[in-house]
Amino acid sequence: MKLFVTGGAGFIGSNFILYWMKHHPEDRVVNYDALTYAGNLENLREIEHLPQYQFVKGDICDRATVLEAMRGTDVVVHFAAESHVDRSIMHPSAFVHTNVLGTQVLLDCAKEVGIRRFHHISTDEVFGTLELGSAEKFNEQTPYAPHSPYSASKAGSDHLVRAYADTYGLPISITNCSNNYGPYQFPEKLMGLAITNLLEGKKVPVYSPGSQVRDWLYVEDHVRAIELVLQKGAEGSTYCIGGMNQDISNLDVVKMIISIMGFKDEMIEIVGDRPGHDVRYAIDWSKIHTELGWSPSVTLEQGLKKTIDWFADHQEWWQSIKTGAYLDYYEVQYGERI
Ligand code: NAD
Ligand code: DAU
Repeated sequence: MKLFVTGGAGFIGSNFILYWMKHHPEDRVVNYDALTYAGNLENLREIEHLPQYQFVKGDICDRATVLEAMRGTDVVVHFAAESHVDRSIMHPSAFVHTNVLGTQVLLDCAKEVGIRRFHHISTDEVFGTLELGSAEKFNEQTPYAPHSPYSASKAGSDHLVRAYADTYGLPISITNCSNNYGPYQFPEKLMGLAITNLLEGKKVPVYSPGSQVRDWLYVEDHVRAIELVLQKGAEGSTYCIGGMNQDISNLDVVKMIISIMGFKDEMIEIVGDRPGHDVRYAIDWSKIHTELGWSPSVTLEQGLKKTIDWFADHQEWWQSIKTGAYLDYYEVQYGERI
């Protein structure tokens, strides 16, 4: 089988390729990635020599390059996106371009090439927000109500994927997953930022008031869920994926990281809030559990310990990222707040 993976040099995409090549060595994998600030071929060093693996540098909005690289593909797994909410608030147009137009170009090419499955990686953020303290959860029937330019662009991409299935009969599936954390997470997202800031002896910025809730999932558990959907998920289906059974606030997550790493809560800096901030995410993942037998394999505490160990053991990886353009971004995002 030939897989065409977009965004395979990013956080989740590279974890997916590393996992897939280990567990499915008979398959060929094309990693199609534009190498934006978030793409890093270092993530794939351990498999880049394998003859079944091929990297193609290209933009998903560039139809000719996509079409050429996609020929002969059985399954498209589409991760490529602009993925950080705070950056979408600063520069929304890149999000619409890549996430909406790029997805449409990929769908068009998949239709022309004739694939067995187009699997779209989406997010729980398309559903908007839940009330703080409520017992409600997002599920596959939850109406879309995105709040940030990022989540609105992901919602647009989900609608296009379903439109191509309904209009042209393209065989698709979609997963809407919650917040991932783990190895190779770009240190702009809360977990990677908190751990690397602490390793540098710097404070962790927590958006006010810190009571916001996310549904945390260790990245390899997300990857295993995608594997199951590709293997056994029904064509045309959507699956919600999440990792938690009970709410935990951002402040408590950061305190957990601080305590595991042996610091004190004085390393927390409460800063101004994110505009349009969704206050609570929680996922009902019973459909993928019942139909495909998936459940998370690690608790938040176990996953955090593994992630902290990984960042502590891979200082060169994140230190080489936290220079130059990253520092410019950090200054604009946090400069006056921390
Ligand atoms: P990331 O930002 O770490 O990686 C994105 C990758 O896409 C990078 O390698 C980048 O170079 C590539 N890319 C960006 N624009 C491109 C373009 N125009 N053409 C080709 N490649 C391009 O993202 P991530 O956190 O790994 O997220 C991957 C996917 O999973 C995204 O679609 C995101 O919406 C979704 N998702 C992420 C999370 C999360 O917690 N990170 C949770 C649920 C869903
Ligand atoms: O829910 C899935 C989504 O999770 C993915 O679709 C996105 O690609 C991914 O970026 C992530 O979005 P969030 O906005 O939830 O993740 P982030 O790590 O940016 O923030 C997590 C929470 O922590 C959120 O409530 C905002 C807060 N936060 C974030 C940063 C970066 C802080 O308090 N301080 C920070 O410095």
